Amino acid sequence: MEGILPSGKPLKGKRANSVEVEGAAAACETCHRRSGMGSLEGNIVVTPITGRFLFANENNRPIALVDPRAPKNVSRAHSPYTQASLAKAIRKGINVGNRLLSPLMPHYDLSNAEVKAVMAYLRQLSADLSPGVGEDTLHFATVVTPGVDPKKQEAMLGMMQKAFTQRNASQEDYSGRMRMPIDLLPRTLRNWQLTVWELKGAPDTWAGQLAEKYRKEPVFAVISGLSNTTWQPVHAFCQQEKIPCMLPSTTLPATETAFYSLYYSRGVALEADVLAKYLRDQGKNAPHRIVQVYRDDEVGRTAAKALTEALRDSGIQVESRVLSGQDEPDLNVAMKDIANEDGLMLWLRPADLSAVSKIMPTLPATRTFASGFLEEENYASMPKAWQPQIRIVYPYELGEKRQKNIVALKKWLQSWNLPLVDETFQSEVFFNLLFLTDLSSQMLDNLYRDYMVERAEDMLSLGSNVSAYPHLSSARGQRFASKGAYIARFAENGKLVAETNWIVP
Ligand code: HEC
Repeated sequence: MEGILPSGKPLKGKRANSVEVEGAAAACETCHRRSGMGSLEGNIVVTPITGRFLFANENNRPIALVDPRAPKNVSRAHSPYTQASLAKAIRKGINVGNRLLSPLMPHYDLSNAEVKAVMAYLRQLSADLSPGVGEDTLHFATVVTPGVDPKKQEAMLGMMQKAFTQRNASQEDYSGRMRMPIDLLPRTLRNWQLTVWELKGAPDTWAGQLAEKYRKEPVFAVISGLSNTTWQPVHAFCQQEKIPCMLPSTTLPATETAFYSLYYSRGVALEADVLAKYLRDQGKNAPHRIVQVYRDDEVGRTAAKALTEALRDSGIQVESRVLSGQDEPDLNVAMKDIANEDGLMLWLRPADLSAVSKIMPTLPATRTFASGFLEEENYASMPKAWQPQIRIVYPYELGEKRQKNIVALKKWLQSWNLPLVDETFQSEVFFNLLFLTDLSSQMLDNLYRDYMVERAEDMLSLGSNVSAYPHLSSARGQRFASKGAYIARFAENGKLVAETNWIVP
């Protein structure tokens, strides 16, 4: 995993071209991955090396698709490895069938004892299917945190349930007739089952609730999810239990990356970085000061902190002000002494925006910005009088390109009689459901959680983008699929249009 020998010294390997690799770069995990299930490096197939694959014989040979992009993508048959033949592969790059392995596979001068230790490790690696995989059921959960919009919650659950029903029905219909070579492979006929983990109360009690729910029903992965406050406790739980946590819809993903959690974006922290880049790029024309107004909650604090940090040493002074008061927010503190030439960033949700606009019909600063993530889809709460002036930091695609991406979503919703409540949000759920279907058909019966995350990393950019994001991509170690935002303005017809190119900070 780390390229450290039992002695504590770094592992050293030599490529066929005599180039030496050492430590982490030499670690078997670099190519064969954490799960041991292999990968694709460029166009070279790195074969699976877990015990199930190395020591299999005719009768118990498992099958893995190494990668959809590889020319020969089904794992190859070979006689079972022994300690001696494994040593030969590791030391000399010669496989059990006496074939010279690809020059990518380094040669390692390991002792017999070390080879034996590697062999023991590989024998237990991904030996059993992960928790959540039942005899004929594959269990998934989705997470809903308290205080979310009930319409969105209903929309998400409706979509997930329909997609699961659809997927399970298509498995039943499968007639065994061969359409493509892949149909020859044994299929996993497990039914997908969805359980909804609805959290209650304060975030610091969620860990306990999640543990209790998980104890009752272990799941293979957490799919989607909805939150408009912190996601950190779910993130930590998934990491601790080693559960893939796939693409939740949250304005506040965890800021540190962890192996098991994949996100659409960094949420409001990304918006802060985009705005900072936009302002910095204005050079002399940038405002000398930007006032940011936020609610003193998890999301507001995170956003404000991110913008302050992103503008450090930029010459733009950042002043942070908390908005207090509910129906009639107190603007005496939040909006005092704002000059026309200042910048103003409103990290406010729709209810706050509309309450503020009632007391403050015109904006005090020419350059005023609002957060796209915190706003509602249709901008109904955005007062008409503000529209010509205000700019939105907008993390989704706009216009025709956006419509092209989401055609499939709209058709699918129609065909299942499901409502379109929130386009960007539902497109996230839809993308995730299709992605899950793709992933599972790639994984075949190799239902290991680590493998799922690895495949997700490799495959995210490959499928068609049916989300409202312009482009989703991922690579080894990356955990945020969309990496930028537009600065957008309202056109005369009230529609948002891009004012800048896609800004990637
Ligand atoms: C730089 C990438 C890389 C690293 C690091 C690496 N391997 Fe490999 N390994 C490969 C590739 C590529 C193949 C497949 C070569 C082929 O089929 O021609 C392979 C094949 C193997 C095979 C033969 C599998 C079979 O199906 O016959 C074994 C065993 C193996 N590696 C073990 C290891 C071990 C143990 C380590 C760490 C000590 C390691 N490898 C590190 C790239 C790597």
